[in-house]
Amino acid sequence: MRLRPWFYNTLYRLKMAPWDKEVRPVLVELVETGRLDPTEIRAAVDLGCGTGAEVVYLAAQGFQRVDGVDFSPVAIRQARARAKAAGVGDRCGFHRADLTAATVPGLAPGYDLVCDFGALNDTVGEARLAVAALITRLCKPGGRALLWAFQGDKAELPAAARMAPMIAPGEEKELFGETFDIEYLPTRPRTAMLLMTRRQS
Ligand SMILES: C[S@@+](CC[C@H](N)C(=O)[O-])C[C@H]1O[C@@H](n2cnc3c(N)ncnc32)[C@H](O)[C@@H]1O
Repeated sequence: MRLRPWFYNTLYRLKMAPWDKEVRPVLVELVETGRLDPTEIRAAVDLGCGTGAEVVYLAAQGFQRVDGVDFSPVAIRQARARAKAAGVGDRCGFHRADLTAATVPGLAPGYDLVCDFGALNDTVGEARLAVAALITRLCKPGGRALLWAFQGDKAELPAAARMAPMIAPGEEKELFGETFDIEYLPTRPRTAMLLMTRRQS
């Protein structure tokens, strides 16, 4: 099942998106421990940024330029308002676009940090390959990609949960192993939290 913008628009409009609560703790931890350092990371992008909590957090921490992309216009509107309210609107760029499209307006290769908390996860088949290729294309050599997804063997899930997109065990190596070194960060069961470093060549 592919989750379309109207589904997300409705959740964001009603303020009922269950994930839309706080800045992802893993991101806060990586910044606070200095593993993601605003003096080294000039440009970051969050793919599937939702209402922009992570984008605004990074900008407020001193990251110079932070972009966010989402195909939900409601999310993008709320993200822009959040950035303005936080006083970092001038360093945040929000773009309404489909990450599975051949081109994604507003984005160009060369990011030091590419985040994706749940967008790749929402895709299947060709669309997933397109998002994985976009992550690879946007991240500069030596840059980082921070990726969260549900991960597991669908056969082990209850029948009602098998419709949900997720990545298969080991799929991250097929999608990113040729280009990135992959570090597995601690996370909840049936999820993957990957900090990937793009090799220089
Ligand atoms: C699970 S939500 C996570 C939102 C945000 N990253 C967070 O952690 O709060 C996934 C987000 O990805 C967006 N999304 C899913 N597929 C997308 C696509 N093909 N193009 C653009 N955005 C997409 C949805 O609109 C939604 O905001």
